Amino acid sequence: MKRIAVLGSTGSIGTQTLDVVAHHPDRFRVEALAAGRNVALVLEQIERFRPHLVSMSDREAAEQVKLALSGSDTRVVYGEEGLIEAAASTDAELVVTAMVGSQGLKPTLAAIEAGKHIGLANKETLVSAGHLVKEAAKRKDVMLLPVDSEHSAIFQCMHRDAPQEIAKIVLTASGGSFRDKTREQLEGVTVKEALAHPNWSMGAKITIDSATMANKGLEVIEAHWLFGLSYDRIEVVIHPESIIHSFVEFVDRSVIAQLGLPDMRVPIQYALTYPERAVSPSRPLDLTEIGKLHFRKMDYERFPCLRMSFECGRLGGSAPTVFNAANEIAVSRFLNGEIAFLDIESIIEQVLEKHDPVRHPPLDQIAEIDEWARRIAREMRL
Ligand SMILES: NC(=O)c1ccc[n+]([C@@H]2O[C@H](COP(=O)([O-])OP(=O)(O)OC[C@H]3O[C@@H](n4cnc5c(N)ncnc54)[C@H](OP(=O)(O)O)[C@@H]3O)[C@@H](O)[C@H]2O)c1
Repeated sequence: MKRIAVLGSTGSIGTQTLDVVAHHPDRFRVEALAAGRNVALVLEQIERFRPHLVSMSDREAAEQVKLALSGSDTRVVYGEEGLIEAAASTDAELVVTAMVGSQGLKPTLAAIEAGKHIGLANKETLVSAGHLVKEAAKRKDVMLLPVDSEHSAIFQCMHRDAPQEIAKIVLTASGGSFRDKTREQLEGVTVKEALAHPNWSMGAKITIDSATMANKGLEVIEAHWLFGLSYDRIEVVIHPESIIHSFVEFVDRSVIAQLGLPDMRVPIQYALTYPERAVSPSRPLDLTEIGKLHFRKMDYERFPCLRMSFECGRLGGSAPTVFNAANEIAVSRFLNGEIAFLDIESIIEQVLEKHDPVRHPPLDQIAEIDEWARRIAREMRL
């Protein structure tokens, strides 16, 4: 039995993680869950998986859970402290980080310090402070197992730890909801249109990030940290079908790709069972049914968020922290109907212009810079 904790259990990745667990009751035991405010779903999950500990984002949600659970063995905590407890204090061996945003940083670091392997979905953590997460994981000898489909693909294609044998890795991008629109056509697009992803059903923030291509930008930086490759060896191509999840070109020009239908339960399950494979609830891939796969060169003028992410990645230090924080606020302002779609990239660009990157910021400085970037992005008038 592998003991796991799921942070962000009520979201898209969290519920699919628990779906995988439910298909393998003999393999996994859920020790802890952490969620935001979805009390009804958390109660269902507690009933089904019987975790020892549950954390909610605030006291009110935690009180509601406690009230409904009276007499149960599950302990309920809340807030940042509760999230850190769920990440680090139970007997879980593997923690799946499936909450959104750089709020995942402290619990992820706490889990690593407690010697737990990480099933990493929360890419913002690695973007915000990749140097700290990598250093801690190396020191504690814990694995960062990718959940993101692209990174899982690359991880599966790399048959051994020999970075000198890799010429480049290529991340595929579906292109998001607006891949066939020109920049002129992007003016005035609505939140509803932006949330209609052609291939994947995901949480709101990552769906908007896919439409702006900021998601691929975050993934480029995530790949840099996960696989230790320079940005010159990371490429992005548009692949509208999302069947090839990414590929690796080796120095002998051999290319290895990982394929499958777009179903996050496959990479989630691989992170949970690694290094083994297990039967999946996912449908099999039939390439004769699909017929053709298409690829297009990435257009960095059309998708400036991706260009900015490469620039920030190359600058390093606190530049990716600012890119991520400004993006998080800009996306939430767009979702709240405060700004237009194209304002997301303007906000990121303007916040970055105001920032002088710091080389190796420690955790407290990362927190300060993250907060500063959020404030500027929140107050920016366009
Ligand atoms: N969705 C995908 O297919 C996909 C693919 C690759 C990578 N990712 C990455 O995975 C992460 C999660 O994405 P998602 O799409 O699953 O997001 P989502 O559906 O919006 O779910 C977010 C989860 O975080 C929870 N949450 C919010 N505040 C919290 C807090 N203070 N403490 C603990 N949990 C909290 C939410 O709880 P409530 O709902 O209860 O408020 C929810 O369970 C992101 O970093 C994303 O980039 C997602």
